[in-house]
Amino acid sequence: MSERFSDKVIYQIYPKSFCDSNGDGIGDIKGITSKLDYLKDLGVDYLWLTPFFVSPQRDNGYDIADYRNIEPMFGTMEDLEELINESDARGLGLMLDMVFNHTSTEHEWFKRALAGDTTYQDYYIFKDGEPDTPPTNWKSKFGGSAWEYVPTLKKWYLHLFDVTQADLNWENPMVRSELKSVIKFWKQKGIKGFRFDVVNLISKPDKFEDDHEGDGRRFYTDGRHVHEFLKELVADTGIDEMITVGEMSSTTLEHCIRYSSPKEKELSMCFSFHHLKVDYGHGDKWELAQPDYMKLKQIFTKWQEGMLLGGGWNALFWCNHDQPRIVSRLGDDRRYWKESATMLATCIHLMRGTPYIYQGEELGMTNANYDDISQYRDVESLNYYKILTREGKSEREALDILAARSRDNSRTPMQWNDDIVHGAGFTEGTPWIPIPGHKPEANVEAELQDSDSVLQYYRKLVSFRKQYPVIAEGDIQFLYGGISEVLVYVRTNGNDKMVVICNLIGKAVSLPCKLDESKSELMLHNMGFPVNRRDGILELKPFEAIVYRLV
Ligand code: GLC
Ligand code: CA
Repeated sequence: MSERFSDKVIYQIYPKSFCDSNGDGIGDIKGITSKLDYLKDLGVDYLWLTPFFVSPQRDNGYDIADYRNIEPMFGTMEDLEELINESDARGLGLMLDMVFNHTSTEHEWFKRALAGDTTYQDYYIFKDGEPDTPPTNWKSKFGGSAWEYVPTLKKWYLHLFDVTQADLNWENPMVRSELKSVIKFWKQKGIKGFRFDVVNLISKPDKFEDDHEGDGRRFYTDGRHVHEFLKELVADTGIDEMITVGEMSSTTLEHCIRYSSPKEKELSMCFSFHHLKVDYGHGDKWELAQPDYMKLKQIFTKWQEGMLLGGGWNALFWCNHDQPRIVSRLGDDRRYWKESATMLATCIHLMRGTPYIYQGEELGMTNANYDDISQYRDVESLNYYKILTREGKSEREALDILAARSRDNSRTPMQWNDDIVHGAGFTEGTPWIPIPGHKPEANVEAELQDSDSVLQYYRKLVSFRKQYPVIAEGDIQFLYGGISEVLVYVRTNGNDKMVVICNLIGKAVSLPCKLDESKSELMLHNMGFPVNRRDGILELKPFEAIVYRLV
């Protein structure tokens, strides 16, 4: 099943920040439709749209109040139908985001539950209790307790995310059946694939107990019935032929093999996040640390070789709407902006799996560098700002942490031109979130004209995947495990071999190179001067990426 999507590339759109068609400062569906030619030219196959359904927008649409209708600020059903048709006409498939672990507390089901309807209480996870003793000590992923008390019901409900995102009870067959009908509804509208939000958290334990070792996640992550639930969902909606990706929070390789192995008939591929935690201090997102490159390499090796061995399939990505911009994170967005953006792109795009490009990544868009709390919008950032300052950090320290870690870093408006004072081509009005001032050159207009831009490099990577079967279909093996600064892997497809060499750091590195000069052909290079290879040594410049084809 997965192999069918091995030569595809997916582009992720965060509608709120992509393109605003009516000047209200908020990106919308018509805005997306107006940019389809740009996306077609980039060469991508599918567009994954994050949620635009009816929602109070506490978590920017991941708090859904109605799965079948569109939040008015994003447009209408007619606008969406137009987007579907126009995408179809260009051979672009739309993928929608199914947020099935929880609903907004504004959802009709939850409102009925609150009004005392026990049928709907059973749609969620309500537990009897006293106002000051939550059922367990679990923590919400956005900070604070994972439980909220409802005095009128004398019950607590579970929310692994914001207090307005109540977890659904997947043990209840009626819930599963409701969610299946949502998928069928969108499938019938012409949607070509689905992304399932935090889908490995849907199966909760049958006993709720305190976690004395952590925040509770070990009790509900990759939970006891998760594979069963997914198999049932896929079988009953007939989506096993479609492209599907599951977002897997704190998961394991063993589970991801099962989620994505074609013979299991669950999903086509998985997002996992271990490679994006190598700069967390003590595993804590809110503690800044230098990236551990050795760990990064070990994680890629384990997941790439492990998924190959187990017959699973990875979604390949550095960026999404929850992650800081990779060029600011592992690259150097000042001294080596282009070099590091293109090296990181090479590194991820040529691995085994299906690559995802998050809007603006193809331009080398950077972190926001906000320095005032008023510039932030994200519920998680605002919560953690309070938590961090309450825990004793100064405002300055808390802002420095947000500047590195906030999800708003990726949610700044897409830069269509360099006029950042007047909306950067994103809007004619005032953008809902400020446009950062320091990287106007990362914009579509300029990069389309420049043959040497980050954008043109991404186009090349996308087209290479279609051109060279070794990228889409080859096996993978990692080399130089002992050298932390340089990531090297070989892709093999029969007699066809390709070697990818990436200097991960902003310093020159010498690498002993055993490749036979006469048998290696330079396929791709992210710098404008010759590769420096002499006497069996490769002298790599900061963030240099070299790809050889072995002939
Ligand atoms: C996923 C989404 C994130 C959201 C969370 C809760 O991690 O990517 O944006 O806040 O789930 O739905
Ligand atoms: Ca708008």
